[in-house]
Amino acid sequence: MAAVEVEALSKRFGRFLAVDAVSFRVEEGEIFGFIGPNGSGKSTTIRMLCGILTPTSGRAAVLGLDVQREPEAVKRRIGYMSQRFGLYTDLTVRENLEFYAGVYGLGAGERRRRVEEVMAAVGLGPRGGQVARGLATGFRQRLALGCALLHRPRLLFLDEPTAGVDPLSRLEMWELIYRLAADGVTVFLTTHYLDEADRCHHLCFIERGRIVADGTPHSLRRARLGRARAGAGASEGRDVAQPAPAAGPPGSEDEVSLEEVFLGFVTPGGGAGGEEGGGPR
Ligand SMILES: Nc1ncnc2c1ncn2[C@@H]1O[C@H](COP(=O)(O)OP(=O)(O)OP(=O)(O)O)[C@@H](O)[C@H]1O
Ligand SMILES: [Mg+2]
Repeated sequence: MAAVEVEALSKRFGRFLAVDAVSFRVEEGEIFGFIGPNGSGKSTTIRMLCGILTPTSGRAAVLGLDVQREPEAVKRRIGYMSQRFGLYTDLTVRENLEFYAGVYGLGAGERRRRVEEVMAAVGLGPRGGQVARGLATGFRQRLALGCALLHRPRLLFLDEPTAGVDPLSRLEMWELIYRLAADGVTVFLTTHYLDEADRCHHLCFIERGRIVADGTPHSLRRARLGRARAGAGASEGRDVAQPAPAAGPPGSEDEVSLEEVFLGFVTPGGGAGGEEGGGPR
């Protein structure tokens, strides 16, 4: 069973089609990167997969549950760290975790145990008594991740977990992500940092609500180079589209940055939609 299985999933806001018939699979235990420009539909897709937003059409199964038929069961089984996470800034680290443990329905004994475990796991043990308002961004993000982990979900959605976080804290966040993956947790994340995309097992590039590439970092590099060398016809892995021709002379796969690969797949100036200035589509 795939952890996430999406078929022709769409979301329309009025006349604006934010997500346009996306299809992809995320296997259990994968670190999956959902990569795309601002406004391309990443958060909207995630919110549909978390049972928060009703799809306009299409189908999605999360941990075997249909998101439209069983949104509440989906919410209970997954962990979700939203892009603008709602921490209670007046509460301490421990109080925030206790609050979310209550939301997830953990009993009193388990709640206490689990809050301490999670604080240690995300490296916030010594900061339990600190008020959330005073936390540096990197620690806030750890606390947000901790809140999403309290009920031991097998699938985690992390929407830009490292946005605005310094390089050392980003590295530490990735150590946590690797540790979760090693424990068998499927991690579905978004990021605008392409060095982070390179750390994922599987990537989908999304642009203007459409999936424009699907593969491993390696297979997407090969597709990019194949196109640069031969002009066309070097499909590899699960790629759904060919990238634009390379600007410079093609080197070896290792020499191509994932940033270059990404820019080969997306249309120049085609990223932003909706409030960013794109018209209805
Ligand atoms: N509730 C809403 N009503 C109307 N339009 C919306 C709504 N939510 C999102 N949109 C629009 O849908 C598009 C996709 O938004 P979304 O938040 O999914 O993008 P994103 O890929 O997560 O971008 P970012 O990288 O900036 O977080 C944007 O143009 C956005 O303005
Ligand atoms: Mg977003």
